[in-house]
Amino acid sequence: MAANILEIRDLVDVVSHHTIIDHLDFAIEEGELRVLVGPNGAGKTTLIDLITGRHRPTAGQILFKGERIDGRARHEIYRLGISRKFQVPTVYDNLTVFENMSIGLRGHRSVFSSLGYRITPAAAEQIERILAETREETSATARLIRDIAKTRSVMVVEHDMSFVRQIARTITVLHQGGKLAEGSVRDVENNPKVAEVYLGKAKISAAS
Ligand SMILES: Nc1ncnc2c1ncn2[C@@H]1O[C@H](COP(=O)(O)OP(=O)(O)O)[C@@H](O)[C@H]1O
Ligand SMILES: [Mg+2]
Repeated sequence: MAANILEIRDLVDVVSHHTIIDHLDFAIEEGELRVLVGPNGAGKTTLIDLITGRHRPTAGQILFKGERIDGRARHEIYRLGISRKFQVPTVYDNLTVFENMSIGLRGHRSVFSSLGYRITPAAAEQIERILAETREETSATARLIRDIAKTRSVMVVEHDMSFVRQIARTITVLHQGGKLAEGSVRDVENNPKVAEVYLGKAKISAAS
C-alpha cells in the first residue's frame, strides 16, 4: 500500500462563527491524482487555503509526508513541495459559452436569433470550429494533468464532468465542509446523497 502524501485529520475551520470546514478527514496517497468536487460554498477553496498555509485551521491536523504542516508559514509549505495553481477563467468557461451558442444553433433558437441576429452559415461553421478546438484544448489539459501526475501527487478542483472523467481515478465530494462521498467517477455519479446536493442540476456542475 502506498503511503499517504497528504492527510487531513479532523480538520475544523471556523470563520466569523461559521463552521467552514467541519471535522474533515481525508487522505491522498503518494502519486495520486485526486479530484475534489462539491457545490458552491462546500469549502473547497478554504481547504486549499488551509493546506497551502494561506489560512490557519481552527483545529485538526494537516500532514504532508507524515509531518504536521498546519499552522506553518506559506513559504515553508511551498518549500516542502506543495504548490497551487489558482483558478483562472479557462477554456472550460468558454466551452459552456460555445456549447450554449451551438445548442441554440442546432435548436434554431439561438441567443443570436432571440437578439434578432441572423446566423450565416459561415458564422455557424466558425462557432462549430471554435467549439471543436475548445474540446481539443480540454483534452490537451487533461493529458497535461495526467502527465504531471506521473511524477507528482495532484489534487484538482473541477466540475466539468467530461473533463473529470478524462483524469479521475478517485473523486472526493465535499459538502458543508465535510466529506459527503468518495469513490470512482461512477460511484460518485450514482450516489443518491451526491445527487441530492446537486439537486436541480442534470449532473455535477457548478461554479468554483
Ligand atoms: N473569509 C470568510 N469569512 C466568512 N465566510 C467565508 C470566508 N471564506 C469563505 N467563507 C464561506 O465559507 C464557505 C465555503 O467557501 P469556499 O471555501 O469558497 O467554498 P467553495 O470553494 O467550495 O465554493 C462559504 O459559505 C463561504 O461563504
Ligand atoms: Mg471555490
